[in-house]
Order: sequence, then C-alpha cells, then structure tokens
Amino acid sequence: MITGNRLKDKVAIVTGGGTGIGEAICKKFAQEGARVVVAGFPDDPVAKVAKEIKEKGGTAIDFTGDLSTMADAQSCVKLAVKEFGKLDILINNAGVFPEVNLLQDYSEEAFDYMIKNNLRSAFLMSKVALPELHKTKGNIISAGSEAGKIGIAQNAPYGGTKGFMHAFIKGLAVEQAQFGVRCNLVGPGPIDTAWTHASTGPMDSKMVKTMKEATPMGRRGTPEEVANVYLFLASEEASYVTGALYMVDGGITVAKGGVGGQADSSMKDEPDGELKLKHSKEGHTEIRE
Ligand SMILES: NC(=O)c1ccc[n+]([C@@H]2O[C@H](COP(=O)([O-])OP(=O)(O)OC[C@H]3O[C@@H](n4cnc5c(N)ncnc54)[C@H](O)[C@@H]3O)[C@@H](O)[C@H]2O)c1
Repeated sequence: MITGNRLKDKVAIVTGGGTGIGEAICKKFAQEGARVVVAGFPDDPVAKVAKEIKEKGGTAIDFTGDLSTMADAQSCVKLAVKEFGKLDILINNAGVFPEVNLLQDYSEEAFDYMIKNNLRSAFLMSKVALPELHKTKGNIISAGSEAGKIGIAQNAPYGGTKGFMHAFIKGLAVEQAQFGVRCNLVGPGPIDTAWTHASTGPMDSKMVKTMKEATPMGRRGTPEEVANVYLFLASEEASYVTGALYMVDGGITVAKGGVGGQADSSMKDEPDGELKLKHSKEGHTEIRE
C-alpha cells in the first residue's frame, strides 16, 4: 500500500534489493511513492520482491545480473530509464559477507569475492548512473558499516571494503555537488539479516553473542530501521545533506566494553515495523559461482 509521498515521482535503483536490508529499502521506497528497480543476482528473490510491491499497489521491476560487471551495470541503469524515464536515486546496497576468519587463515577467494561485489559493483553502478543523476539532480546512498568505521575482528578484510565505501562516498559528495548530486552513506551496525545469525551466515554463536553484548541497545537492528534512514537521505528532506555517514548501529561504534548486558530485557525486543519482509534471512553468505 502506498502510504506516503516522500519519494513521489522518484525513480530508484536498489542494488541487492532481493534480500535483507535491500528488500526493506525497496518496500519502504515503494510505499513512499517511488518507482523501484529491484536489482540483484539471478538467484536472488528480486522478482518476488517486485511482485510483492506491485501486489500492494506500488511500482517496481526486477533486474537480474552481476552488477560488478560493466555490461550488467549499464543494462540496469538503462532498464530504469527505459521503464520509468529517468533515474533519481541510486542505492548501492549490494554486498557479500562470505567468510569469518583470522587473517592468517583468511582465504584469497573470499577476499577477491568481496572486492568484486562490495567495491566494483558500487564503483560501476555509481559511474554509470551519474550522467542520469546529473539530469535529475539526484542522489546516491551507499552501504557502509560499523566495520568500516571501527574495523571488525575475524573479518578485517570485510571492514576494509566498507572503509573504502566511507571514503569513496565523501570524495563523490565533494566532486558531484557541482552537478547537484548528493552522496551519502548509511552505516548499519548488527542487523537482523542472514549475515548476523550463526544458522544462516559465517558467524559462530560466540561471535553473535559478543556482537550483541557490544551493542548498547542489546539487540540487532531490523532491516526496516535501516531503510527508514535511507528514506530520509533519499528524500528532499535531506536536501542540504551530502558527504554524511549516518550510523544506524544501536550505538555499537561509540560503546566501550560489553554494554549490551546492561540493557534491560524489556528493551531487547525488535520493533514490529510495518513492512512485510519475507526475504530478510535469504541473503548472500557464501561464495557462489
Ligand atoms: N547485516 C548487517 O549486519 C550489516 C551490517 C553492516 C552493513 N551491512 C551492509 O548492508 C548491505 C546489505 O546487507 P544484508 O545484511 O542485507 O545482506 P544480504 O546478503 O541479505 O543482501 C545483499 C544482497 O546483495 C546481492 N549482491 C551482492 N553482490 C551483488 C552483485 N555483484 N550483483 C548483484 N547483486 C549482488 C546479494 O546477492 C544479496 O541479495 C551490505 O552492503 C552490507 O555490507 C549489513
């Protein structure tokens, strides 16, 4: 159901839109009137997300491909313009989290996989989208991470890929302001997707426990709580915001010690939200062919 108009008449591409936080961004944006290209790998449930949006009266189309290749990045932007006439918003949300290991044991394969999917996809999508964003005076929002700000043990290379995104978006913000394009970053903390559960991702239960204890709010954030901040930054309400890194992290980047244990158990329930998310735990947590 379209319940708001904060993105009325806007066209958005959301990369990694089939699962996890991306699904929530697609549904939130559609709910606020945006026409959305739900983009992901061929085995991601992007068609399902687009269908679910349409069933609620929103407008969406799916795109499948590997956005770390120039051909597919170009096809994705072309599809948005062909279907919806323009592009206002690019969300670089796609990413992978294939391994957790001490660096001496960390595989080259996982490292290369992250460089390709976490960095190349954002670089290429931004490069290809910019000429269209110049026309609409649009904006780009990329996914950073608490790990990009303070690093993450047993996944130092992942934190490094997100640190790249933090610097990348600031550089873009400075150089693209002259074209009227705003560039910002959302840095999630531990979010309730496939990545942060021992049953669906590479973290073991000890890491999951440490992660929650390090978070003052004592719980994961929901994909919808992250999408709410993407919505603000993508909307005209953020018209004077560029080069900003918005942490949505339950306080984990400012915490000292195991503060999560201090949170009262009554505060640890995640909010229900209003989106019906069906793909939040189907994310990308292994190396795929
Ligand atoms: N979950 C967390 O705790 C957390 C914390 C900090 C940052 N983030 C960031 O948020 C973003 C989303 O994470 P999530 O937890 O929702 O994970 P997710 O696996 O559910 O979503 C990521 C999606 O991107 C897709 N993707 C990856 N590379 C692609 C490519 N080259 N082309 C097309 N699609 C591609 C994946 O297939 C997947 O569907 C990521 O950028 C991640 O780094 C997540």
